Amino acid sequence: MNHTIVITGANRGIGLELAKLAASKGHRVIATARSAEKAAVLKEAVGSKGAVLSLDIAKDESVTGFASSLKELGVTAVDILINNAGVYLDDDVAFESLASKMILESFNTNSIGPIRVTQALLPLLKKARAPKVASVSSLMGSMADNKAGGAYAYRMSKAAVNMFTRSLAADEREMTVITLHPGWVKTDMGGDRAPLEPAKSAEGLWTVIESATPDDSGKFFNHAGRELPW
Ligand SMILES: NC(=O)c1ccc[n+]([C@@H]2O[C@H](COP(=O)([O-])OP(=O)(O)OC[C@H]3O[C@@H](n4cnc5c(N)ncnc54)[C@H](OP(=O)(O)O)[C@@H]3O)[C@@H](O)[C@H]2O)c1
Repeated sequence: MNHTIVITGANRGIGLELAKLAASKGHRVIATARSAEKAAVLKEAVGSKGAVLSLDIAKDESVTGFASSLKELGVTAVDILINNAGVYLDDDVAFESLASKMILESFNTNSIGPIRVTQALLPLLKKARAPKVASVSSLMGSMADNKAGGAYAYRMSKAAVNMFTRSLAADEREMTVITLHPGWVKTDMGGDRAPLEPAKSAEGLWTVIESATPDDSGKFFNHAGRELPW
């Protein structure tokens, strides 16, 4: 069955590969980017069935505008929302030099961003037969896994989005709400030393999202489908 799928931060990296993959499977992909007009590669990826819309998840007014654009497009239900957009601002920033502005910006994008978009799409998600919300977090947001320290802003902001998944899963029992770790992926964020190609990560994430059922709601999975500790 073909679904309507919204993907944030889809103009490069993992988001772009997810958009290409979902479109290649015949789904209607609404791919979003901060500068939709510059995202030619994305327009090609989603094809004539899909659409590319502007969305800055860190700004309330942009999210409101995005919701209106969906209405104008005639979208009546969203089957899957993939909250993929994210930033890693404090890579290699020592705790002593960590500015509060950097922490706030990390939270604004990585934690509040997915909340803004999910809130805006909730009525459309509720119109779908089996709605899913998948937020791309990181194993770096796992409290149980953190033995390495550092990256305070990124880790805390991803831990916060993990908690968002847990609460939404508990509140919205008819939805499947999951958190995902894409692996260490060769993107602008992951860098050249990362062992995993974005297309491979996206393939794994897509399989996890597609096969997730309400029984999986409130869980944290990696791209290989392994459940991870919070
Ligand atoms: N790569 C890894 O190894 C790795 C590991 C664990 C988790 N993750 C997570 O996976 C997700 C995707 O990462 P990636 O590796 O593909 O990163 P990436 O290549 O740096 O791409 C990040 C994407 O997010 C978008 N974005 C950032 N802030 C945004 C905002 N305010 N509004 C809308 N879009 C915004 C970027 O758009 P612009 O082009 O406009 O900046 C870009 O499309 C992120 O949530 C990241 O935290 C990645």
